[in-house]
Amino acid sequence: MVAIDERRLLRRLDELAQRGALPGGGLYRALYTPAWVSATELVSGWMKEAGLLVRRDAVGNVWGRVEGSRGGRAIVTGSHIDTVRGGGALDGALGVVAAVEAVASLVSQLGRPLRILEAVAICEEEGSRFNTNFWGARAIADRIEPDEASRARDADGVTLADAMRGVGLDPANVAQAIRRDIDTFVELHVEQGPILEEEGPRLGVVRTIVGTAHLEVVVRGQPDHAGATAMDRRRDALLGASAMMLAIADVAREMGPPAVATVGTIAVEPAQVNVVPGLARFTVDARHSDNAQRTLLVADITRVCKVAGRERDLSVDVRTLRDRPAVQLNERAADVARRACLACGVAPRDMTSGAGHDAQVLSAAAHAAMIFVPSIGGRSHCPEEATAAEDVILGTRALAAALRDLAYS
Ligand code: GLV
Ligand code: MN
Ligand code: MN
Repeated sequence: MVAIDERRLLRRLDELAQRGALPGGGLYRALYTPAWVSATELVSGWMKEAGLLVRRDAVGNVWGRVEGSRGGRAIVTGSHIDTVRGGGALDGALGVVAAVEAVASLVSQLGRPLRILEAVAICEEEGSRFNTNFWGARAIADRIEPDEASRARDADGVTLADAMRGVGLDPANVAQAIRRDIDTFVELHVEQGPILEEEGPRLGVVRTIVGTAHLEVVVRGQPDHAGATAMDRRRDALLGASAMMLAIADVAREMGPPAVATVGTIAVEPAQVNVVPGLARFTVDARHSDNAQRTLLVADITRVCKVAGRERDLSVDVRTLRDRPAVQLNERAADVARRACLACGVAPRDMTSGAGHDAQVLSAAAHAAMIFVPSIGGRSHCPEEATAAEDVILGTRALAAALRDLAYS
């Protein structure tokens, strides 16, 4: 068994959580912001300390590499360094810190691996700033759309391309981030749900990652005076949108688990206290682990929005922003992860992830596996996101065991 430095692991998680910490609690490390730069510099410092060859690729993914005596295709571990707005200390961060710890421990105790071994801090997964989720993993897997960097804008109108230039990256070079030489990618992550904590065991191996559709719904009515327009003369876009949101939740509930649907953003125009809203624009995140069911879910959501619009004399446009299918992770890589968990004394549970992960994108370019540790209270994407220290340590040990199996034997 490879020993890991438990104190260093936990201390580094705390240290990383300071980068982008919000005054009121929680954190926000959005792509190419100063908090993000500071976090990536921290991680590259740890990689250098471990004697790894460190480089920042064309989109800002940070790689720490040790050459293998036999060369060949690389064994890679890592996760994302960005967070959602008001997120917690572990989503992505655990997989990054554990990756550096596992690789550093392996190299210091076992020396040079047979296979190339790399830890990576992936620049963006959440889509929090530019609505371009999986930007980092998609760049590695050659899944970036032409002109995506000049089309994507943040809430202030800054293009992704300009944000890249701001941190010294050239958007013309995005394709240089493509990797075609990764054999296996292993990601350690918090479960972000309650199953492992409530039902055990303390480790999970992910078999399936849900498919996710993101929709934008635009509801158009008529702006009117809030005092002089009688209730029965209004075409209130926000009231219509509210009816749609309730109906959307009902659709997911009626379909049953694992169907879920979330309205996470809404904007109203003209957004004034004394004006009946003429326009409402909201997003829907709809997920299911079965692709046919997800398609049905999206169709039903679209239908109930149209119905609610007709009932209120509102026009409704539903646009698909993205629709990513469910992904089955590689069975052989999952076997490696399972053996690693067993070596740590835990028979892991096979799991379906309701959250999206870099592993789902990298599974197009490599064999991908994921190990889950419990989330306290099943909480995630919130400041309360936490995992017991002994589970952080256990998961990191399992990760190190999997990497040992892959890179040293
Ligand atoms: C990322 O955490 C997602 O599942 O959207
Ligand atoms: Mn997340
Ligand atoms: Mn994540």
